[in-house]
Amino acid sequence: MRILLFTGKGGVGKTTVAAATAARAAAAGQRTLVMSTDPAHSLADSFDVPLGATATSIAPNLWAEQVDAQERLESNWRDIQEYVIAFLNWAGVDTVEAEELSVIPGLDEIFALTDIKTHVDSSSYDLLVVDCAPTAETLRLLSLPEAINWYIERIFPVQRRAVKTVRPLLTRITSMPIADDRIFAAVARLHRNLDGVRQLLTNERISSIRLVVNPEKMVIAEARRTYTYLSLFGYRVDAIVVNRMIPEEVEDPYFGKWKEIQREHLQVVRESFDPVPILIARLFDREMVGLPLLEMMGAELYGPGDAARLLHRDEPMRIRKRGASYVLTLRLPFADRSSLNVFRKADELFVRVGSHKRNIMLPQALQRLEVQDAAFVEDRLEVRFARESAGASGAGGEGSGRG
Ligand SMILES: Nc1ncnc2c1ncn2[C@@H]1O[C@H](COP(=O)(O)OP(=O)(O)OP(=O)(O)O)[C@@H](O)[C@H]1O
Ligand SMILES: [Mg+2]
Repeated sequence: MRILLFTGKGGVGKTTVAAATAARAAAAGQRTLVMSTDPAHSLADSFDVPLGATATSIAPNLWAEQVDAQERLESNWRDIQEYVIAFLNWAGVDTVEAEELSVIPGLDEIFALTDIKTHVDSSSYDLLVVDCAPTAETLRLLSLPEAINWYIERIFPVQRRAVKTVRPLLTRITSMPIADDRIFAAVARLHRNLDGVRQLLTNERISSIRLVVNPEKMVIAEARRTYTYLSLFGYRVDAIVVNRMIPEEVEDPYFGKWKEIQREHLQVVRESFDPVPILIARLFDREMVGLPLLEMMGAELYGPGDAARLLHRDEPMRIRKRGASYVLTLRLPFADRSSLNVFRKADELFVRVGSHKRNIMLPQALQRLEVQDAAFVEDRLEVRFARESAGASGAGGEGSGRG
């Protein structure tokens, strides 16, 4: 079973490349489902067939579906949302505003992503190709399970225990709505769903992300940032797809300058993502609509090889023993190293690079050790842990470093 996720800046050709990859894999005999989790669906337009929220067969070995994100949101979030609204009302927030506030933007796509797990569990397919929402959106969404899990694991059990014992008292002294068992059950279910998807998507044997770019300055800059943050959250990119390259054989002088600019940008892509493989899709002479064109693009992109195979093995995080200390290595390519901050608090490591942060639940071996230093070694952040040295101050266990 393989899962390929396609993401990139708006309009770069994510849907087209995802559809072409699915068409190629299906033609090679793999039972393939291509699904779109972007609430703004365009898979149906790409294949030029009507599609719904359940898998529709569109060719031998090929199925497609556009997940109804709103429906998934309602079934997963309704119970929790009711409580949040009641709570906000109690706190003085108007009903309409409370409704608005009770849905975290992008939550619909995250619930659409939970369909991935449903399909994996059904084992009906060899390959799942996922057409994701544009970069920023997906990024935030992919990091959301981690954030929610953090909250659920840390705060929720405490609240739950407290509520069990003091609910009778609370209801007497305050009108504040108190979460009941139904809400706790809904939160626990949500946690299970999100955790399941996250585990699948960060499993290197199963899932790879393919970043789609165009040979354009802004698009490449955004893809480099995306790559850093994906890496920060433990997701693996196994290829960069450069889409819309003007073919060499185009001689028209009008495109001469464009070809030169594209060549320069392609070089930037190579230098930026090395050693991640780069696949090139030419700018076709028409809109890429319908299965025959998509199959042609897929064949050109992947050649005779298997479109779904793991094209590159990335290693987001490692922990090794070095003398008396442990070194945790995070691959963080292209990160803005001027603002690196690393510290441990209890059993967690907090890493902040630029404006992004990650909370890592540390393994047992590191939980009682202090951060000694942190520094960049090439594109890897190395954090050294050891027992507190005699000279160090007792508090905090903080350390920061620059490369
Ligand atoms: N290599 C190509 N040659 C010609 N046309 C292309 C190519 N790649 C994409 N297109 C066309 O560009 C348009 C946008 O592509 P697509 O919908 O795949 O982009 P997207 O990244 O999914 O956009 P969105 O961010 O809106 O989801 C489509 O009309 C598609 O047919
Ligand atoms: Mg799209």
